[in-house]
Amino acid sequence: MGFSSYKKSVENGDKVILYFSPSHIAPLKINLGQTLQTAYGAIKHGDLIGKNYGTKINCPKGWIYLLHPTSELWTQAVPHRTQILYSTDISMIVFQLELTAGSVVVEAGTGSGSLSHAIIRSVMPTGHLFTFEFHKDRFEKAGQEFVEHGLSDNVTITHRDVCNDGFQLNHVADAVFLDLPSPWSCIESAKQAIKLQGGRICSFSPCIEQVSQTCATLTEKGFQDIKILECLLRKFHVKHTGLPKASLGELTELEKMQKVKIDRKKPIEMGTNDDMVETGESVAKKPCLENTNNSGKNNKDKKKGQDCYEFVTASPVQDMQGHTGFLTFATLYGQ
Ligand SMILES: C[S@@+](CC[C@H](N)C(=O)[O-])C[C@H]1O[C@@H](n2cnc3c(N)ncnc32)[C@H](O)[C@@H]1O
Repeated sequence: MGFSSYKKSVENGDKVILYFSPSHIAPLKINLGQTLQTAYGAIKHGDLIGKNYGTKINCPKGWIYLLHPTSELWTQAVPHRTQILYSTDISMIVFQLELTAGSVVVEAGTGSGSLSHAIIRSVMPTGHLFTFEFHKDRFEKAGQEFVEHGLSDNVTITHRDVCNDGFQLNHVADAVFLDLPSPWSCIESAKQAIKLQGGRICSFSPCIEQVSQTCATLTEKGFQDIKILECLLRKFHVKHTGLPKASLGELTELEKMQKVKIDRKKPIEMGTNDDMVETGESVAKKPCLENTNNSGKNNKDKKKGQDCYEFVTASPVQDMQGHTGFLTFATLYGQ
């Protein structure tokens, strides 16, 4: 059983993901005979065996979903042994490092393995991740999880301080990823690990001072195209709204049929974007700009002779999830 392939139903020994709510997702290793105590009541592992992944499970005091593990769900469910990288940054890292099936990647430190799982999934089935962690317990726990998740063929984890002892890899990697307090101290070793035809590097740092020192070392070691990105999440309110249809000339056949009277000299008044930004709601000054979820209102508009074009729109809300870190990318061209 693993993250590497999909199957239909749960078997004893599987690692499953239990979905309680959007903010509560937990992993569970199925052990026949054991019982999990939850806020929704007791769940017998044996009752989950044979159930199809994706099934809604009724519990004594509610319900949960039984999900197949994926690297994205693992990022939400992983037991935190360190700060971890989340899907927003991970997607940018995978894209910017140009990871694809068959890529060879070097990573330090492994931490809780959140990013490692996403990298392994991106480079499977023929690629490989060499990941390094100097904290003994974290190294052992991550190694155990890679085995349990069926990922052993695509990952090698090494217990080492890469800042002092380097990666000890010679021109095997397409990309290197660093999530370390002093990434600049292993950039020389990262360069040695990158393939002779060149490759990409990324360093994740929460502080701009670390970014600055990393950029200076990258430049000194011959990396080019240095680019710093910060990923921020922005939420949008999605809603149905309507605008008066602009009539630019002759009446259409439809208008003629409907005998709609439109005052062509009067300009069509549009709602401003500011209205939407300020309130997070669709603010309507004219009937046709009103939220047309309410079909009664819509009919009223039509009675007034305004022909409405209805559509789905989105406006940003004011809150924006805070900074997690800066991603510094660079390229090493052929050596
Ligand atoms: C923030 S965590 C990495 C989290 C990881 N990116 C994830 O998504 O789960 C940083 C890890 O780097 C490890 N580390 C720090 N310095 C190191 C070094 N010199 N060599 C190897 N590992 C190191 C720490 O023990 C820690 O587990």
